[in-house]
Amino acid sequence: MATIGAVSVSGSGEDIEFPVELVSFIDEWKIKPGSLIMILHKTQETFGFISRPAAEKLSRLTGIPLARIYGVITFYHFFKTTKPGKYKISVCLGTACYLKGGSDLMEEARTLLKLEEGGVTEDGLFSIDPVRCVGCCGLAPVIVVGNDTYGKLTKEQLPEIIAKYHSA
Ligand code: FES
Repeated sequence: MATIGAVSVSGSGEDIEFPVELVSFIDEWKIKPGSLIMILHKTQETFGFISRPAAEKLSRLTGIPLARIYGVITFYHFFKTTKPGKYKISVCLGTACYLKGGSDLMEEARTLLKLEEGGVTEDGLFSIDPVRCVGCCGLAPVIVVGNDTYGKLTKEQLPEIIAKYHSA
């Protein structure tokens, strides 16, 4: 068993089915230099995160050692190894939002949902991620929940917004 940082990379023994489109993408990209990042992006886009069985299958399909795959996944915060919540809360920490209190929104949302960085609520409903500029800086500070965008937010409005998805 090899270990990178705190991540054990021993095999799980589980198999996972990859959609044909993903397998074709891997076949096309695996021979190109610098392909691992592209393949990891596509895998995360497909499943929402990169599970251990998915990482193992990527290793088998590409011939890239599992330890190297985990090295990349853990280096880039963008990649997730756990399933995100049903509703992903993206808190914008781009410059405009940051200057108007984006980090306060982040802290309040984490407190309200009792979430550590990268965690998911026990009911599986929510996860929170920082994002860089979602393209509506005039509405700063902004959060995006699922497909809904909320702008000019104050932290006092967060409980009501979260409650809406709890009862959805
Ligand atoms: S910085 Fe938040 S939307 Fe642009």
